Amino acid sequence: AQLLIPRRATDPPVVFHWLPFIGSAIAYGNDPLNFFFEAQKKYGDVFTFILLGRRVTVALGPKGNNFILGGKSTVFNAEDAYTHLTTPVFGKEVVYDVPNEVFMEQKRFVKVGLSAENLKAYVGMIEEEIEEFLARDPAFKVFQKGDPNEWGSFETVKVMQEITILTASRTLQGKEVRSGMDKSFAERYNDLDNGFTPINFMFPNLPLPSYRRRDRAQAQMSKFYVDIIKKRRAGHDDHEHDMIAALMQQKYRNGRTLNDREIAHIMIALLMAGQHTSSATGSWALLHLAANPKVADAVYQEQVKHFQGPDGRMRSMTYEELRELPVLDSVIRETLRMHPPIHSIMRYVRDDVPVPATLSAPSKDGIYVVPKGHYVMASPAVSQVDPTVWKDASVWDPSRWNDTDGVAAQAFKMYTDESGEKIDYGFGAVSKGTESPYQPFGAGRHRCIGEQFAYLQLGTLISTIIRHLELKIEKVPEHNYHTMITMPLPPRDIQYKRRTKA
Ligand code: HEM
Repeated sequence: AQLLIPRRATDPPVVFHWLPFIGSAIAYGNDPLNFFFEAQKKYGDVFTFILLGRRVTVALGPKGNNFILGGKSTVFNAEDAYTHLTTPVFGKEVVYDVPNEVFMEQKRFVKVGLSAENLKAYVGMIEEEIEEFLARDPAFKVFQKGDPNEWGSFETVKVMQEITILTASRTLQGKEVRSGMDKSFAERYNDLDNGFTPINFMFPNLPLPSYRRRDRAQAQMSKFYVDIIKKRRAGHDDHEHDMIAALMQQKYRNGRTLNDREIAHIMIALLMAGQHTSSATGSWALLHLAANPKVADAVYQEQVKHFQGPDGRMRSMTYEELRELPVLDSVIRETLRMHPPIHSIMRYVRDDVPVPATLSAPSKDGIYVVPKGHYVMASPAVSQVDPTVWKDASVWDPSRWNDTDGVAAQAFKMYTDESGEKIDYGFGAVSKGTESPYQPFGAGRHRCIGEQFAYLQLGTLISTIIRHLELKIEKVPEHNYHTMITMPLPPRDIQYKRRTKA
């Protein structure tokens, strides 16, 4: 239907394509970054491409990021772009199933559950969960045997996915979820997850068995959480540090507390939002550390310096200590620069929007206007590897973050500056950051609220693995863009050796 929108002289240029409905779907789907860079060369920072009948207007570069991510939700709307994908998975009454003002209140509730006080309690739990995993999982048999001269190997993504769900459920999700993580939980989770793919996004209503399995899994998962909440409401158990506890105490501005379904569905949304993003980032980080033993050694030495006692044993970190480890921090930042899990951020255009002349050279009729009915797309992933912004943009080099006058430090400051301009969207003031070339967690009103949790989870993961293991790999794999979240392509096995005797 979108193709019926008449073309106007002020429309942005359209990327050339042979097939009318399909448009650029294949080139975009196989390698969106390459597609964006090629189109940018021909058409500049603002252009439209056809994606299976949808008209998608892309705005690139820091100014493009600002145009889209700093846009008003009344014109560049997220729920219109995402709800058909997310509501069948998360459930009703939350996130993109409700008007933006309501979701912003829900983000505020989640922020309470992610308070520094809660995060402090999580470091030790995450560390313990990973150490137990290393001591039990068959992939780490060689580690368990204790001979520091023997090499073993693990499938990076598989291991990271398991560790991510274990650590998130132990902390945020709460003890009932952690102890309820049996085979049937895993199956339900997989069925839900299989409903969260680019196919589901492009074709929301296919009569496929996977869609039916998704819907059944959503109902079961919803009931699983509702039962936990009901039990908690009936009892007096003490769960002060988890998200369900925080959500049970919150009230909307009109004084209403959250009902059981809303809490359940927010919990499912958080499970899904944190799972692939964190496990992909953890995978890329370990793959690069395995390929760069010098950096891995620097991470290890940083651990030794701060946490090794006179008996040679390493002690646990506190949350405050974890936040003060520059080498570890630079590894996470650099990994997120080169491999941001989300390559495309979309909004639906509810009204005509003129493109600022500073962003794109004006058309012969004055300016470009993004027409109502298009989608807009931002890709901070492009500005994060733009060779005109970053020196050696395609080299994974964590040390770039330690140069306090360098581009990386400036970009980071723009993204996070506490003293700079801030906006309060209702879930707590956030740094504006919409014009930074570095935005792995998005920017503006839809900016991620899981950032601190993700840093904590990833920081503890990397430290714990590097404390115990030496890693190696021939080369870091290429990107797989066919999944919702950008993943490393197989083969992606890392070889490991125990650092010290058992
Ligand atoms: C939003 C990235 C982890 C919850 C976002 C967005 C990005 C992002 C790019 C913006 C999406 C948009 O504008 O359309 C990441 C990355 C993560 C991560 C790179 C880890 C490395 C998490 C975790 C949670 C979470 C652990 C939950 C505990 C959310 C929520 C939003 C969000 C609630 C808001 C969506 C909106 O307002 O529309 N994230 N995320 N994320 N993320 Fe994350």
